Amino acid sequence: MTRHLAIIGGSGLYQIDGLKDATWAAVQSPFGAPSDEILTGRIDTTTVSFLPRHGRGHVHTPTSIPYRANIDALKRIGVTDVVAVSACGSFQEHMEPGDFVIVDQFIDRTFAREKSFFGTGCVAHVSVAHPVCPVLSATARDAAKATGVTVHDGGTYLAMEGPQFSSMAESRMYRAWGCDVIGMTNMPEAKLAREAELCYASVAMITDFDSWHPDHGAVDISQIIETLHGNAAAARAMVKGIAQALSGDKPLCAAGCDRALEHAIMTSPEA
Ligand code: ADE
Repeated sequence: MTRHLAIIGGSGLYQIDGLKDATWAAVQSPFGAPSDEILTGRIDTTTVSFLPRHGRGHVHTPTSIPYRANIDALKRIGVTDVVAVSACGSFQEHMEPGDFVIVDQFIDRTFAREKSFFGTGCVAHVSVAHPVCPVLSATARDAAKATGVTVHDGGTYLAMEGPQFSSMAESRMYRAWGCDVIGMTNMPEAKLAREAELCYASVAMITDFDSWHPDHGAVDISQIIETLHGNAAAARAMVKGIAQALSGDKPLCAAGCDRALEHAIMTSPEA
């Protein structure tokens, strides 16, 4: 099958290089309006769409991002693979600002967001034991490495509600829990992608040491923006590399992301 890649870009990734015949289109969803129009074009033979997670001009807070509409809209236009790119804080000495982490686990501490497409009338429980697609994650890892940035293969992402950053006590606690990075946006995005049977991978671009580190001060936005600017070219080159790797005819997802609902729906079709 041919793949259709979507990039959900957070702070630090506002455009895609080398996207041919690209046009912005509004996509309707029964879950409301997505964060923005979706830009779709081609890199090599891969169709690539780009959705700015916070909207152009950064108008959505992590809490107000319409996660369900975003994933639903991508599914409707035929997307098969979603790569989330986002700024994150680090809980590990060796994961430094400027490094990329290929996230493979999450702890979801968000509490003010709609987290499922399912509900009364159609009850489903998908597995998120392995919340990212290992095949797409490996593709993202290889493309990120090829840009020359330091890449950490695997990491646990603590999803917090925000918009405030963590207190030092919270930061120390998340570190003690074994978390590697912290951000405000990958949940419920990853869960919804699984419910929509999309392959999902997450690339965390480290911008700071959150507030646990004795040698670094509290996080501030100017530091985050400065690090992101330094990383923007690598992020765009990584996206191009992922698109190139997905071109051509590819088999079904070996991990079964595209069949996640097969054993998940409780409600009888006759109900
Ligand atoms: N995004 C970037 N740095 C962050 C941090 N320290 N906490 C939460 N979200 C972030």
